[in-house]
Amino acid sequence: MKRLELHDLSIAYEDEGEGIAVVLIHGYPLNRQIWRYQWEGLANSARIIAPDLRNHGETAVYRQNKLSEIIHNMELLADDIAQLLDALSISKPVIVNGLSMGGYAALAFYRKYPDRVRRLILTATRARSDSEAEKDNRIKAIKVAQDQGVGAIADSMLPRLLSPNTILHKPDLVGSIREIMLSSSLEGVVGDLRGMMVRLDSTPLLSRIRIPVLIVVGKDDQIIPIDEALAMNDLITDSRLEIIEDAGHLLNMEQPETYNRIVREFILSLE
Ligand code: MLT
Repeated sequence: MKRLELHDLSIAYEDEGEGIAVVLIHGYPLNRQIWRYQWEGLANSARIIAPDLRNHGETAVYRQNKLSEIIHNMELLADDIAQLLDALSISKPVIVNGLSMGGYAALAFYRKYPDRVRRLILTATRARSDSEAEKDNRIKAIKVAQDQGVGAIADSMLPRLLSPNTILHKPDLVGSIREIMLSSSLEGVVGDLRGMMVRLDSTPLLSRIRIPVLIVVGKDDQIIPIDEALAMNDLITDSRLEIIEDAGHLLNMEQPETYNRIVREFILSLE
């Protein structure tokens, strides 16, 4: 793990390998550890940078707001990534890969900093914003997290995060994903939920994307159904969709070899 001091963050991140930088943005309520098979498996093909987002993992926020005011807007997360790249003196365009909420942040990053993105990878994510029913569920989840703790969120989400195959055959992986979720802070969970709830609809952005995009999804994803990936693939001019069997929402951990092969091919196809 490496650490840098940014404007209002002490940010923890992995930085492995050489070549084009690939920034991996984790989802909710997770941290950079979900990418360990990628920094282990892809660092021979690129420079893999995987930060802990604000209030997650080992990243700490200076001058933290009161809990009632913490909100992780997707643009704020995008700014944190831009600051990290500045601090690492990476001015050339990078590949940005976001998983789920990380994908929402990746799209916000592209909207805000299009010249800093060479290619996009959208993993287990969607472009649209929350429906009214989804916003209500976020409000309920904030209350559950505050009243019962982060463990209650982890317990309700875990069975839906993974494919039946993973739950049946990979108990160690299920256990380590549970640990990652349980290590989340209340600030992280609540900040993410509020940020996701008000995020912009990125659908209008899709047809304006002028770079190649890889969309990867697990066939058994119960959190974001694969229809959302099909819809994004239809709207982006230069995109490719890959659907991984026996994988759910955390496909990069559930089927790391297949996921890494697909991502490596995409990285190496840079002209
Ligand atoms: C995630 O996995 O990052 C979130 O569950 C996505 C969401 O709740 O919209």
